[in-house]
Amino acid sequence: DITANINGIQLPLCIMNASGVLCSTDQELSNLLDSHSGGVVTKSCTSQPRKGNILPRYFEWNMGSINSMGLPNFGIHFYLGFLEEKKINKPIFLSISGLSTEENYYLIQKANQSSKVTAIELNLSCPNLIGKENVFGYNFDKISNFIEKIFKFNKKPLGIKLPPYFQDAHIKNIASILNQFPIFFVTCINSLPNGLFIDANKESVVICPKKGFGGIGGPIIKPFALANIRKFYTYLRKDISIIGCGGISSGKDIFEHILCGASAVQIGTQFMKEGVSVFERLKKELILILEKKNYSSLNNFKGKLKNL
Ligand code: DHB
Repeated sequence: DITANINGIQLPLCIMNASGVLCSTDQELSNLLDSHSGGVVTKSCTSQPRKGNILPRYFEWNMGSINSMGLPNFGIHFYLGFLEEKKINKPIFLSISGLSTEENYYLIQKANQSSKVTAIELNLSCPNLIGKENVFGYNFDKISNFIEKIFKFNKKPLGIKLPPYFQDAHIKNIASILNQFPIFFVTCINSLPNGLFIDANKESVVICPKKGFGGIGGPIIKPFALANIRKFYTYLRKDISIIGCGGISSGKDIFEHILCGASAVQIGTQFMKEGVSVFERLKKELILILEKKNYSSLNNFKGKLKNL
């Protein structure tokens, strides 16, 4: 049994896509609905359509990926319209990423009006906006006020997509803020912001926007994802689920995320590399590990990482 329960939201499989990857267009979202993915997370949207940053804006190498997409999306009305027209067979996580707190309130209001949205994934961690360089998730003093206002009107299950943190005190601080609100889940982590990958042969950066700087994903970020999941698992209220994201390319990686405390996981870079067949492959790999270890469900080992 590798189904998942995100604070009451039942997923037929604990594996889904990470927001941003192959979840922007009608075709991509239809493919996800038809895939083995346990849920569908939509591309982070804004109130109006955006073209995003100049190309090339995505690059991958054996150990990871770098992106500076700049929030290209068709606007919230496109995503809500798509959901209205489709037969929905699994939980839908509408990712929203307003450029201001006011825009986020508007987006959450709109999401509340759609019966097809299972939950909102509020993205506080986009690192790639030109002229808006700050990752909101690092604004420790503003987050509390912002979330308090949201829960004055929000009725939908709501989770928060967080950036990676690198200090214990930062995670303690964010967790103690989130613990004051009826949050359903946190998704951690988003890409490591402001990385730089270069091509030594060409003596050049590999993506165009922001002089080559961008968000890092893929295998090299797994230790940071595991660390954030582990710390949030210890500091968050037990009824706030954790969706793990970062560096998953095998069933073993998923097993590790769950050992640290994740209730479900999202696949970004590896989904980009492999396409929708990744979900069935990872499902098989995870089932094999559980069979070998004689575990019958995720709850047998979730969060049960041992210390030495
Ligand atoms: C983009 C990147 C992110 O990491 C994110 O959380 C939202 C948007 C982007 O560049 O499109």
